[in-house]
Amino acid sequence: MKALITAGGHGTRLRPITHTQNKHLIPIANKIMLQYALEYAAEAGIREAGIIINAGDTSIQNVFEDGNQFGLEITYIPQDAPLGLAHVVKISQDFIGDDSFVFYLGDNILVGGIKHFIDDFTKNGTNCHLVLSKVSDPNRFGVAEIEGGRILSIEEKPDYPKSNLAVTGIYVYDSTIFEAVNNIEPSARGELEISDAHQYLLNKGYSVSYSEITGWWKDTGKPSDLLEANRLVLDSIKHKKLGIVDEHSTISGRVQFGGNSKVINSTIRGPVILGENTKIENSYVGPYTSIGKDCVIKNSELEFSILMNGCTIEDIQRRIEASLLGNDVVIRRTQKKPVTHRIMVGDQSRIEIE
Ligand code: DAU
Repeated sequence: MKALITAGGHGTRLRPITHTQNKHLIPIANKIMLQYALEYAAEAGIREAGIIINAGDTSIQNVFEDGNQFGLEITYIPQDAPLGLAHVVKISQDFIGDDSFVFYLGDNILVGGIKHFIDDFTKNGTNCHLVLSKVSDPNRFGVAEIEGGRILSIEEKPDYPKSNLAVTGIYVYDSTIFEAVNNIEPSARGELEISDAHQYLLNKGYSVSYSEITGWWKDTGKPSDLLEANRLVLDSIKHKKLGIVDEHSTISGRVQFGGNSKVINSTIRGPVILGENTKIENSYVGPYTSIGKDCVIKNSELEFSILMNGCTIEDIQRRIEASLLGNDVVIRRTQKKPVTHRIMVGDQSRIEIE
Protein backbone atom coordinates (compact mmCIF):
# COMPACT_ATOMS: atom_id res chain seq x y z
CA MET A 1 0.00 0.00 0.00
CA LYS A 2 1.35 3.43 -1.01
CA ALA A 3 0.03 6.93 -0.30
CA LEU A 4 -0.55 9.69 -2.83
CA ILE A 5 -1.01 13.07 -1.16
CA THR A 6 -1.91 16.36 -2.85
CA ALA A 7 -0.11 19.62 -2.17
CA GLY A 8 -0.70 21.35 -5.51
CA GLY A 9 -3.41 23.77 -6.69
CA HIS A 10 -3.51 27.53 -6.16
CA GLY A 11 -5.46 27.89 -2.90
CA THR A 12 -7.23 30.95 -4.35
CA ARG A 13 -9.86 31.03 -1.59
CA LEU A 14 -7.12 31.49 1.00
CA ARG A 15 -5.56 34.60 -0.54
CA PRO A 16 -3.68 36.69 0.51
CA ILE A 17 -2.03 33.99 2.68
CA THR A 18 -1.48 31.80 -0.41
CA HIS A 19 0.15 34.62 -2.41
CA THR A 20 3.33 33.91 -0.47
CA GLN A 21 2.99 30.31 0.71
CA ASN A 22 1.56 27.00 -0.37
CA LYS A 23 -1.73 26.47 1.51
CA HIS A 24 -0.64 23.02 2.66
CA LEU A 25 2.09 24.70 4.75
CA ILE A 26 -0.41 26.73 6.80
CA PRO A 27 -0.24 25.62 10.45
CA ILE A 28 -3.24 24.14 12.25
CA ALA A 29 -2.60 24.10 16.02
CA ASN A 30 1.01 25.04 15.19
CA LYS A 31 1.53 21.93 13.05
CA ILE A 32 1.85 22.23 9.27
CA MET A 33 -1.35 21.03 7.63
CA LEU A 34 0.37 18.51 5.35
CA GLN A 35 2.15 16.94 8.33
CA TYR A 36 -1.19 15.53 9.55
CA ALA A 37 -1.54 13.59 6.28
CA LEU A 38 2.05 12.30 6.43
CA GLU A 39 1.69 11.19 10.05
CA TYR A 40 -1.62 9.44 9.31
CA ALA A 41 0.00 7.59 6.39
CA ALA A 42 2.98 6.51 8.52
CA GLU A 43 0.64 5.41 11.37
CA ALA A 44 -1.26 3.25 8.85
CA GLY A 45 1.97 1.37 8.13
CA ILE A 46 2.63 3.03 4.76
CA ARG A 47 6.29 3.49 3.84
CA GLU A 48 6.18 5.07 0.35
CA ALA A 49 4.36 8.35 -0.19
CA GLY A 50 4.09 10.47 -3.33
CA ILE A 51 3.36 14.17 -2.87
CA ILE A 52 1.89 16.15 -5.77
CA ILE A 53 3.40 19.62 -5.98
CA ASN A 54 2.98 22.50 -8.40
CA ALA A 55 5.86 22.26 -10.90
CA GLY A 56 8.65 24.60 -9.75
CA ASP A 57 7.41 24.88 -6.13
CA THR A 58 10.22 23.64 -3.87
CA SER A 59 8.63 24.82 -0.59
CA ILE A 60 7.09 21.46 0.33
CA GLN A 61 10.31 19.59 -0.39
CA ASN A 62 12.29 22.10 1.67
CA VAL A 63 10.14 21.26 4.70
CA PHE A 64 9.61 17.50 4.43
CA GLU A 65 12.78 16.52 2.53
CA ASP A 66 13.02 12.76 1.96
CA GLY A 67 10.38 11.95 4.61
CA ASN A 68 12.82 10.11 6.84
CA GLN A 69 11.69 12.02 9.94
CA PHE A 70 8.23 10.41 9.54
CA GLY A 71 9.53 6.96 8.63
CA LEU A 72 8.43 7.58 5.01
CA GLU A 73 10.18 7.58 1.68
CA ILE A 74 8.75 10.59 -0.17
CA THR A 75 8.70 11.02 -3.95
CA TYR A 76 7.73 14.51 -5.18
CA ILE A 77 5.56 14.44 -8.31
CA PRO A 78 5.32 17.78 -10.15
CA GLN A 79 2.04 18.76 -11.83
CA ASP A 80 2.40 21.38 -14.60
CA ALA A 81 -1.03 22.91 -13.88
CA PRO A 82 -3.91 22.02 -11.52
CA LEU A 83 -5.86 20.09 -14.13
CA GLY A 84 -7.98 18.14 -11.64
CA LEU A 85 -7.75 15.37 -9.08
CA ALA A 86 -8.14 12.61 -11.66
CA HIS A 87 -5.22 14.26 -13.51
CA VAL A 88 -3.21 14.00 -10.29
CA VAL A 89 -3.88 10.24 -10.21
CA LYS A 90 -3.10 9.92 -13.92
CA ILE A 91 0.37 11.50 -13.65
CA SER A 92 1.18 9.31 -10.63
CA GLN A 93 0.78 5.98 -12.41
CA ASP A 94 4.54 5.35 -12.69
CA PHE A 95 5.00 6.02 -8.97
CA ILE A 96 2.09 3.77 -7.93
CA GLY A 97 2.82 0.90 -10.33
CA ASP A 98 0.61 -2.13 -9.56
CA ASP A 99 0.18 -1.30 -5.86
CA SER A 100 -3.01 -0.37 -4.09
CA PHE A 101 -2.90 3.14 -2.67
CA VAL A 102 -4.62 5.65 -0.48
CA PHE A 103 -5.25 8.97 -2.21
CA TYR A 104 -5.36 11.72 0.41
CA LEU A 105 -6.17 15.36 -0.32
CA GLY A 106 -3.56 17.25 1.69
CA ASP A 107 -5.99 20.01 2.68
CA ASN A 108 -8.26 17.56 4.55
CA ILE A 109 -7.92 17.08 8.30
CA LEU A 110 -9.76 14.43 10.27
CA VAL A 111 -9.68 12.85 13.68
CA GLY A 112 -8.46 9.29 14.15
CA GLY A 113 -6.21 8.86 11.12
CA ILE A 114 -6.80 6.69 8.03
CA LYS A 115 -5.77 3.16 9.02
CA HIS A 116 -9.32 1.93 9.60
CA PHE A 117 -10.36 3.05 6.09
CA ILE A 118 -7.50 1.09 4.55
CA ASP A 119 -8.52 -1.92 6.69
CA ASP A 120 -12.13 -1.55 5.42
CA PHE A 121 -10.87 -1.53 1.80
CA THR A 122 -8.80 -4.67 2.39
CA LYS A 123 -11.66 -6.42 4.22
CA ASN A 124 -14.20 -5.54 1.48
CA GLY A 125 -11.84 -6.55 -1.33
CA THR A 126 -13.29 -3.81 -3.53
CA ASN A 127 -11.66 -1.85 -6.35
CA CYS A 128 -12.35 1.48 -4.69
CA HIS A 129 -13.25 2.53 -1.18
CA LEU A 130 -14.66 6.02 -0.53
CA VAL A 131 -14.91 7.82 2.79
CA LEU A 132 -18.14 9.77 3.21
CA SER A 133 -19.25 12.35 5.71
CA LYS A 134 -22.63 14.00 6.37
CA VAL A 135 -22.46 17.75 5.67
CA SER A 136 -24.92 20.65 5.71
CA ASP A 137 -23.63 22.12 2.41
CA PRO A 138 -23.25 19.11 0.04
CA ASN A 139 -23.14 21.28 -3.09
CA ARG A 140 -19.50 22.20 -2.18
CA PHE A 141 -18.41 18.55 -2.54
CA GLY A 142 -18.62 15.34 -4.51
CA VAL A 143 -21.95 13.82 -3.39
CA ALA A 144 -22.83 10.12 -3.13
CA GLU A 145 -26.28 8.73 -3.82
CA ILE A 146 -26.78 5.63 -1.66
CA GLU A 147 -29.46 2.95 -1.71
CA GLY A 148 -29.49 -0.23 0.36
CA GLY A 149 -25.88 0.25 1.45
CA ARG A 150 -24.67 0.62 -2.15
CA ILE A 151 -23.38 3.71 -3.95
CA LEU A 152 -25.56 4.38 -7.00
CA SER A 153 -23.95 7.56 -8.26
CA ILE A 154 -21.40 10.26 -7.49
CA GLU A 155 -21.80 13.84 -8.67
CA GLU A 156 -19.26 16.65 -8.35
CA LYS A 157 -20.60 19.82 -6.67
CA PRO A 158 -24.21 19.26 -7.85
CA ASP A 159 -26.73 22.13 -7.82
CA TYR A 160 -29.34 19.68 -6.54
CA PRO A 161 -27.51 17.14 -4.32
CA LYS A 162 -29.14 13.71 -4.09
CA SER A 163 -28.00 13.30 -0.46
CA ASN A 164 -26.12 15.11 2.30
CA LEU A 165 -23.23 12.61 2.08
CA ALA A 166 -20.07 14.33 0.87
CA VAL A 167 -17.20 12.31 -0.58
CA THR A 168 -14.27 13.38 1.59
CA GLY A 169 -10.68 13.65 0.42
CA ILE A 170 -9.68 10.12 1.45
CA TYR A 171 -9.95 7.38 -1.18
CA VAL A 172 -8.45 3.88 -1.34
CA TYR A 173 -7.91 2.29 -4.76
CA ASP A 174 -6.51 -0.70 -6.53
CA SER A 175 -5.03 -0.09 -9.98
CA THR A 176 -8.46 -0.13 -11.73
CA ILE A 177 -8.61 3.61 -10.99
CA PHE A 178 -6.03 4.15 -13.78
CA GLU A 179 -8.45 2.71 -16.34
CA ALA A 180 -10.99 5.28 -15.09
CA VAL A 181 -8.73 8.36 -15.09
CA ASN A 182 -7.44 7.45 -18.55
CA ASN A 183 -10.96 7.21 -19.99
CA ILE A 184 -12.79 10.29 -18.73
CA GLU A 185 -12.99 13.73 -20.34
CA PRO A 186 -12.42 17.13 -18.69
CA SER A 187 -15.50 18.70 -17.07
CA ALA A 188 -17.08 22.03 -18.00
CA ARG A 189 -14.53 23.79 -15.74
CA GLY A 190 -11.68 22.08 -17.65
CA GLU A 191 -10.64 19.66 -14.89
CA LEU A 192 -10.41 15.87 -14.88
CA GLU A 193 -12.80 15.29 -11.97
CA ILE A 194 -12.20 12.52 -9.47
CA SER A 195 -16.01 12.17 -9.13
CA ASP A 196 -16.21 11.38 -12.88
CA ALA A 197 -13.56 8.68 -12.37
CA HIS A 198 -15.68 7.21 -9.54
CA GLN A 199 -18.81 7.34 -11.71
CA TYR A 200 -16.83 5.55 -14.46
CA LEU A 201 -16.01 2.72 -12.02
CA LEU A 202 -19.72 2.46 -11.05
CA ASN A 203 -20.84 2.48 -14.72
CA LYS A 204 -18.38 -0.29 -15.60
CA GLY A 205 -19.59 -2.47 -12.72
CA TYR A 206 -16.39 -2.26 -10.64
CA SER A 207 -16.92 -2.58 -6.91
CA VAL A 208 -17.04 0.64 -4.90
CA SER A 209 -17.51 0.42 -1.13
CA TYR A 210 -17.65 3.16 1.47
CA SER A 211 -17.24 4.04 5.15
CA GLU A 212 -18.85 6.96 6.90
CA ILE A 213 -16.77 9.25 9.10
CA THR A 214 -18.33 9.42 12.53
CA GLY A 215 -15.95 11.93 14.12
CA TRP A 216 -15.05 15.26 12.60
CA TRP A 217 -13.51 15.94 9.21
CA LYS A 218 -12.65 19.27 7.63
CA ASP A 219 -11.79 20.35 4.10
CA THR A 220 -9.81 23.54 4.74
CA GLY A 221 -10.73 25.41 1.57
CA LYS A 222 -11.80 28.73 3.15
CA PRO A 223 -10.41 30.88 6.01
CA SER A 224 -13.39 29.96 8.23
CA ASP A 225 -12.58 26.24 7.65
CA LEU A 226 -9.01 26.82 8.88
CA LEU A 227 -10.27 28.44 12.07
CA GLU A 228 -12.73 25.58 12.57
CA ALA A 229 -10.05 22.91 11.94
CA ASN A 230 -7.80 24.75 14.39
CA ARG A 231 -10.62 24.71 16.98
CA LEU A 232 -11.23 20.99 16.50
CA VAL A 233 -7.54 20.06 16.82
CA LEU A 234 -7.03 22.34 19.84
CA ASP A 235 -9.98 20.62 21.54
CA SER A 236 -7.80 17.55 22.02
CA ILE A 237 -4.41 19.08 22.98
CA LYS A 238 -2.84 18.25 26.30
CA HIS A 239 -1.63 20.82 28.80
CA LYS A 240 2.15 21.25 28.54
CA LYS A 241 3.97 23.82 30.60
CA LEU A 242 7.39 24.66 29.31
CA GLY A 243 7.56 28.43 29.38
CA ILE A 244 7.67 31.01 32.16
CA VAL A 245 4.43 32.26 33.69
CA ASP A 246 4.74 35.08 36.26
CA GLU A 247 2.72 35.24 39.49
CA HIS A 248 0.40 37.96 38.12
CA SER A 249 -0.88 35.73 35.32
CA THR A 250 -3.85 33.33 35.30
CA ILE A 251 -3.84 30.22 33.14
CA SER A 252 -6.99 28.11 32.86
CA GLY A 253 -7.86 25.17 30.64
CA ARG A 254 -5.32 23.32 28.51
CA VAL A 255 -2.45 25.45 27.28
CA GLN A 256 0.62 24.20 25.43
CA PHE A 257 3.59 26.48 25.90
CA GLY A 258 6.49 26.40 23.47
CA GLY A 259 10.04 26.45 24.84
CA ASN A 260 11.14 29.84 26.16
CA SER A 261 7.64 31.34 25.90
CA LYS A 262 6.77 33.98 28.51
CA VAL A 263 3.46 35.03 30.00
CA ILE A 264 3.54 38.23 32.02
CA ASN A 265 0.59 39.80 33.84
CA SER A 266 -1.84 38.12 31.44
CA THR A 267 -4.84 35.78 31.35
CA ILE A 268 -4.85 32.75 29.08
CA ARG A 269 -7.94 30.57 28.72
CA GLY A 270 -7.27 27.37 26.84
CA PRO A 271 -7.31 25.53 24.65
CA VAL A 272 -4.44 27.65 23.42
CA ILE A 273 -1.08 26.81 21.91
CA LEU A 274 1.95 29.13 22.05
CA GLY A 275 5.05 28.64 19.92
CA GLU A 276 8.68 28.95 21.02
CA ASN A 277 9.97 32.36 22.13
CA THR A 278 6.49 33.88 22.13
CA LYS A 279 5.71 36.56 24.70
CA ILE A 280 2.29 37.50 26.06
CA GLU A 281 2.32 40.64 28.19
CA ASN A 282 -0.58 42.56 29.85
CA SER A 283 -2.92 40.69 27.55
CA TYR A 284 -5.79 38.21 27.31
CA VAL A 285 -5.60 35.17 25.03
CA GLY A 286 -8.89 33.30 24.79
CA PRO A 287 -9.95 29.80 23.68
CA TYR A 288 -9.10 28.24 20.32
CA THR A 289 -6.08 30.40 19.58
CA SER A 290 -2.84 29.15 18.01
CA ILE A 291 0.12 31.53 18.16
CA GLY A 292 3.30 30.61 16.27
CA LYS A 293 6.88 31.16 17.39
CA ASP A 294 8.61 34.51 17.99
CA CYS A 295 5.31 36.42 18.43
CA VAL A 296 4.60 39.30 20.84
CA ILE A 297 1.14 40.08 22.17
CA LYS A 298 1.22 43.18 24.35
CA ASN A 299 -1.61 45.21 25.93
CA SER A 300 -4.15 43.45 23.69
CA GLU A 301 -6.91 40.82 23.66
CA LEU A 302 -7.10 37.93 21.22
CA GLU A 303 -9.17 34.77 20.77
CA PHE A 304 -10.32 32.12 18.25
CA SER A 305 -7.49 33.00 15.85
CA ILE A 306 -4.40 31.66 14.10
CA LEU A 307 -1.19 33.68 14.15
CA MET A 308 1.76 32.36 12.19
CA ASN A 309 5.37 33.03 13.20
CA GLY A 310 6.89 36.41 14.05
CA CYS A 311 3.63 38.37 14.54
CA THR A 312 3.26 41.40 16.83
CA ILE A 313 -0.01 42.72 18.24
CA GLU A 314 0.48 45.75 20.46
CA ASP A 315 -1.83 48.21 22.26
CA ILE A 316 -4.97 47.22 20.35
CA GLN A 317 -8.05 48.26 22.32
CA ARG A 318 -10.72 46.04 20.70
CA ARG A 319 -10.48 42.29 21.15
CA ILE A 320 -9.24 40.58 17.98
CA GLU A 321 -11.10 37.37 17.08
CA ALA A 322 -11.77 35.01 14.16
CA SER A 323 -8.57 36.29 12.52
CA LEU A 324 -5.87 34.65 10.47
CA LEU A 325 -2.47 36.35 10.38
CA GLY A 326 0.37 35.27 8.09
CA ASN A 327 4.04 35.39 9.07
CA ASP A 328 5.62 38.59 10.46
CA VAL A 329 2.37 40.58 10.55
CA VAL A 330 2.38 43.70 12.77
CA ILE A 331 -0.80 45.27 14.17
CA ARG A 332 0.03 48.16 16.44
CA ARG A 333 -1.67 51.29 17.80
CA THR A 334 0.10 54.31 16.39
CA GLN A 335 1.94 56.64 18.75
CA LYS A 336 2.21 59.39 16.15
CA LYS A 337 -0.22 62.23 15.44
CA PRO A 338 -2.47 62.44 13.52
CA VAL A 339 -4.15 59.37 15.03
CA THR A 340 -5.42 57.58 11.95
CA HIS A 341 -5.59 54.05 10.55
CA ARG A 342 -2.32 53.59 8.66
CA ILE A 343 -2.43 50.38 6.65
CA MET A 344 0.06 48.57 4.44
CA VAL A 345 -1.30 45.26 3.18
CA GLY A 346 -0.80 43.06 0.13
CA ASP A 347 -3.33 42.12 -2.54
CA GLN A 348 -6.68 40.60 -1.51
CA SER A 349 -6.20 41.27 2.21
CA ARG A 350 -9.28 41.79 4.32
CA ILE A 351 -9.43 44.15 7.28
CA GLU A 352 -12.61 44.73 9.29
CA ILE A 353 -12.44 47.62 11.74
CA GLU A 354 -15.04 49.18 13.96
O1 DAU B 1 -12.38 17.76 0.16
C1 DAU B 1 -13.26 16.90 -0.48
C2 DAU B 1 -13.57 17.36 -1.91
O2 DAU B 1 -12.31 17.52 -2.59
C3 DAU B 1 -14.44 16.31 -2.64
O3 DAU B 1 -15.73 16.27 -2.06
C4 DAU B 1 -14.58 16.66 -4.12
O4 DAU B 1 -15.26 15.65 -4.78
C5 DAU B 1 -13.19 16.80 -4.74
O5 DAU B 1 -13.29 17.23 -6.11
C6 DAU B 1 -12.39 17.85 -3.98
O6 DAU B 1 -13.00 19.12 -4.16
P1 DAU B 1 -12.26 20.49 -3.85
O7 DAU B 1 -12.92 21.59 -4.63
O8 DAU B 1 -12.18 20.68 -2.37
O9 DAU B 1 -10.80 20.23 -4.44
P2 DAU B 1 -9.62 21.24 -4.52
O10 DAU B 1 -9.55 21.85 -5.85
O11 DAU B 1 -9.66 22.17 -3.32
O12 DAU B 1 -8.33 20.31 -4.35
C7 DAU B 1 -8.19 19.42 -3.28
C8 DAU B 1 -6.72 19.16 -3.03
O13 DAU B 1 -6.00 18.74 -4.21
C9 DAU B 1 -5.90 20.31 -2.51
O14 DAU B 1 -4.90 19.72 -1.70
C10 DAU B 1 -5.28 20.92 -3.77
C11 DAU B 1 -4.97 19.68 -4.57
N1 DAU B 1 -4.98 19.76 -6.05
C12 DAU B 1 -6.14 20.09 -6.68
C13 DAU B 1 -6.21 20.05 -8.04
C14 DAU B 1 -7.52 20.39 -8.76
C15 DAU B 1 -3.84 19.38 -6.77
O15 DAU B 1 -2.78 19.08 -6.16
N2 DAU B 1 -3.92 19.38 -8.13
C16 DAU B 1 -5.05 19.69 -8.81
O16 DAU B 1 -5.07 19.64 -10.06
